Amino acid sequence: MKPIRRIGISTGGGDCPGLNAVIRAVVKTAVNTHGWEVVGIFDGFDGLIDTAKSKVLTPLAIRGILPQGGTILGTTNRGNPFKYQAEVRGKVVTRDLSPLVLRNARKLGLDAVVTIGGDGTMGIAYDLHRKGLPMVGVPKTIDNDLASTDITFGFNTAVTTATEALDKLHTTAESHHRVIVLEVMGRYAGWIALESGIAGGADVILIPEIPFDYEAMCEKIMTRRRRGSKFSLIVAAEGAKPRGGSVSLAEKAAGGRAERLGGIGQKVGAEITLRTGIDTRVTVLGHLQRGGSPTPFDRILATRLGVAAVDLVRRRRFGRLVCVRGGEISSASLASAAGKMRGVPPRGELVRVAEALRISFGR
Ligand code: F6P
Repeated sequence: MKPIRRIGISTGGGDCPGLNAVIRAVVKTAVNTHGWEVVGIFDGFDGLIDTAKSKVLTPLAIRGILPQGGTILGTTNRGNPFKYQAEVRGKVVTRDLSPLVLRNARKLGLDAVVTIGGDGTMGIAYDLHRKGLPMVGVPKTIDNDLASTDITFGFNTAVTTATEALDKLHTTAESHHRVIVLEVMGRYAGWIALESGIAGGADVILIPEIPFDYEAMCEKIMTRRRRGSKFSLIVAAEGAKPRGGSVSLAEKAAGGRAERLGGIGQKVGAEITLRTGIDTRVTVLGHLQRGGSPTPFDRILATRLGVAAVDLVRRRRFGRLVCVRGGEISSASLASAAGKMRGVPPRGELVRVAEALRISFGR
């Protein structure tokens, strides 16, 4: 069997804190332990469409990136080579550029490609693998919503950022006797809202998995008032929706791009003012949750996954992704990971803990 000499590495989809820690772990292990060469593929799989975008990553090239947010490789969530969109004479055309990706991977002498991404990227990786490109995946997302793994790196940093925001909002809400709503990310999962809400002492947590009732939410705020707490903190996941209602969209799906969630915080704030008459303010945390330096937890998790990904390549266990199961690093097939999400169990332990503290989910 041909020995492994050269591997590629790419990051795809939305960025998240800890991507650079994975890149660093892969380069250091591949080069220093195994003597392989690592080629950085830039901007998702674009670097395999235009090879001028790819370059060798030496340990020197990745020096100092461990604490850096973002990804030194760049990323895109529009770069699916199977449905590649380009403008030709003023018109957007969709083409399958996967044969070119495979040819370029061979031209670059890549014996395998490690790709770090969410469920969309894992789906592309699986399809490339089936077409003959040896692929290994590393799951990432701040949303923590991938079915293939118990936890994703980036999530802990996002929860830390959201908790810090809640701590700051707490003091101003209390001083002004206001209700403050914090809208956090998470797509169709409520993990960021749930964990930051518990950590930040929220009074109400609204998550997609538990459609809420405005009346129940306002009752919680009024009960607090009657008992002497004239302020309340609400954390709303961007995917939260009222019972019988639908999610709030910032942008509809278009041109191969998924819909963008956003706006539920404003709706909840307006409804609280209307129903209770209490002065209410809304903060949308947005991309602050995706940026910045990864927490030590995320750096360690990302490093473990990077080392494990190289190990999968060494053992030629292609078509798989590294994951965490019961606190241990493990692996799963890319097929099982593609497009599958993991939401908050509506009656799970964390929700019960929150309810034991009288945090309302508006149900
Ligand atoms: O999946 C990560 C995430 O930050 C979601 O929480 C959010 O809905 C989405 O990406 C935002 O995407 P964009 O960066 O394209 O606005």
